[in-house]
This record gives sequence, C-alpha cells and structure tokens, in this order.
Amino acid sequence: MSLIVLYSLMFIGGYVSAAGLGLTCPDWPLCPSGILPNSEYLIEWVHRLVAAITGALIISTTVICWITKNSTRKIKITGTLSAIFVSTQITLGAIVIDLKLQALLVAIHLGIGIILFAMVLLTTILVFRLNDIEISS
Ligand code: HEM
Repeated sequence: MSLIVLYSLMFIGGYVSAAGLGLTCPDWPLCPSGILPNSEYLIEWVHRLVAAITGALIISTTVICWITKNSTRKIKITGTLSAIFVSTQITLGAIVIDLKLQALLVAIHLGIGIILFAMVLLTTILVFRLNDIEISS
C-alpha cells in the first residue's frame, strides 16, 4: 500500500515540476486558503496531502517492522531507513518551497524520492520473501 501511494506521489511531484506549478502554493505547511484547497493550487495541495498520507503509512509500516516478532534484521533496517528518508523528504519539501525551488534542492528532492522508493520496495520484497519461507516450511 505504501509503495503504491508513494509511486502516485512521485508521479504527482513530476507533474507539479514539469507543469511549473511548484510555487502555486507559496506557504507551508498550509496553503493560503487554509486546510481546504483552492483551484489555483489544487495539484500542489494534492502533492502535500498525499505526502502526509505517505509519511503516515511509511512510519506505521516501520513500527510494524519493529513490533512483529518474526521480522528480520534486514526488514528492520530497510523499514527504519524508509522512515528516516520520508521524514527528510517532507522536511526538504518545505525547504524547497521556502527557497523558491532552488535547482539543487529540487534535484536532491528527486534523488531522495528515488532512494525512498528503493527502500520501501526492498522492505516489501523482504517481507514477501519471509512470508514465502514461512509458508513453505
Ligand atoms: C514523501 C514525500 C515526498 C515525495 C516522495 C516527493 C516527491 C517528489 C518528486 C518525485 C517530485 C518531482 C521532482 C522533479 O521532477 O524534479 C516532487 C516535486 C515537488 N515537491 Fe515533492 N515529494 C514529497 C513531499 C513534498 C512536500 C511535503 C512538499 C512541500 C510542500 C513538496 C514539494 C514539492 C515541490 C514544490 C515540487 C516541484 C518542484 C519544481 O517545481 O520543480 N514535496 N516531489
């Protein structure tokens, strides 16, 4: 679930960037009209909302990785790295807005997004592999 929502978020982020909509909502964390969106910055607002949902999903997954009895060390490591990268990415998103889409920061935002995707994918693969081993034994 986290992986699908994260992929959608990266897709929306790519659209925000390519369509030049990055500064349509210039404030942080809320847009000028408050919690609800406005047609001028709907896409940027959706990117932030989905980022918040993604953050909650990934951090919940990390907690589950730690509290599940048969979880392996590798799952705990990739799960924890996912939580660290998602927190960094959300903080960086705010800085990207604050510094008016500074090119290097936007590139780092994309770079961390890719590493984050890799970590969540790896966690998913490791969990599926563990389930397969448990079913066949
Ligand atoms: C898990 C959280 C997030 C992920 C995975 C993510 C991912 C992405 C990706 C992949 C892009 C496209 C980058 C590009 O094509 O160069 C993007 C763009 C963008 N993101 Fe995020 N993002 C996240 C959170 C946030 C947050 C919280 C904000 C803050 C408001 C934010 C603000 C932006 C902006 C303004 C752009 C467009 C930059 C531009 O116009 O070039 N992002 N995001």
